[in-house]
Amino acid sequence: MERKRKIDTGERIITPNVNENDFGIEEGLRPITLESYIGQKKVKENMRVYIEAAKNRGESLDHILLYGPPGLGKTTLSNIIANEMNANIKTTSGPAIERPGDMAAILNNLNEGDILFIDEIHRINRLIEEVLYSAMEDFALDIVIGKGSDAKSIRIDLPKFTLVGATTRIGLLTAPLRDRFGVINRLELYNPEELSTIVKRSAKVLGIEIDEFGALEIARRSRGTPRIANRLLKRVRDFAEVKYDGVINDEVAKSSLDILEVDKNGLDNIDKKLLLCMIEKFDGGPVGVENLAVSIGEEAETIEDVYEPYLIQQGFIKRTPKGRVVTKLGYDYFGLKILGGNEDD
Ligand SMILES: Nc1ncnc2c1ncn2[C@@H]1O[C@H](COP(=O)(O)OP(=O)(O)OP(=O)(O)O)[C@@H](O)[C@H]1O
Ligand SMILES: [Mg+2]
Repeated sequence: MERKRKIDTGERIITPNVNENDFGIEEGLRPITLESYIGQKKVKENMRVYIEAAKNRGESLDHILLYGPPGLGKTTLSNIIANEMNANIKTTSGPAIERPGDMAAILNNLNEGDILFIDEIHRINRLIEEVLYSAMEDFALDIVIGKGSDAKSIRIDLPKFTLVGATTRIGLLTAPLRDRFGVINRLELYNPEELSTIVKRSAKVLGIEIDEFGALEIARRSRGTPRIANRLLKRVRDFAEVKYDGVINDEVAKSSLDILEVDKNGLDNIDKKLLLCMIEKFDGGPVGVENLAVSIGEEAETIEDVYEPYLIQQGFIKRTPKGRVVTKLGYDYFGLKILGGNEDD
């Protein structure tokens, strides 16, 4: 099936979105069992129970929605679920499905127990979404044949399948669609220990020599995101091979990442620009995302999906009902003092 998705072509090395250089290696680095899927403990434990229960009953799984920032392992987990269920997986994405008829055809081609993975499910249009309602709920397609007074609706039964939907923006899903998922899992940013395990695992797969400290340094600068950790690992390897003896240790990782302008907190120039803009132009906030977007010349959506989750996780900014504010930690980061009444924590 055709897939269309957002690909970053920019220079930003720490974008969590897929970037042109990720092609080819991402597939090879994907764990294929729940056991080898690192972190996301709660989600993993739940899924293990659901999978075992479904298998024992000889039934298919409930429909599953996975959401969370880009690069955290939604696609990876969907494939693992199919693998653990011994099920076939068919993959498509919201923007790739253009007409209700396309959706109906995809559903009609499924076999009993199949997993249908719809990436970026929030980008499916409303008319197409309606086809999914009866498919998800009753395993049936309602098709209208003929026109005007001759029109009649017929119902086609579908095999029992499992829909796995993935989205970075659960807020854009309509309530009727969201309510049809039996299981809703939110993926969280990873901690440095988990990321370091991922880095070591990837290094093994790619035949890269790395020590504990080198792995942890890359992990700390990867914004809680496996995709970024894997990307940084590859870039640091280049430095290790050309400028050092090929082994990634603490020093190699630190100096390479400094050259790549990823600082010890994983922030790059755009993060800093965003924080400084909030401090200098908006007195530290509160500021709305739209205003901020215009001020730094980025899309509001990118700010919400890409920059903010990590800056919030790091405690540099906070969301309040009135907008975003820079915290004391955020000011401290630049060695600045909070002026005025915006005292946080
Ligand atoms: N838990 C994990 N353990 C090990 N590697 C992981 C894990 N999660 C993700 N990865 C690695 O990170 C990369 C990105 O993961 P994936 O493509 O599944 O993210 P995603 O959430 O689907 O991103 P997007 O929102 O852009 O679709 C994969 O190549 C995979 O190797
Ligand atoms: Mg994905």
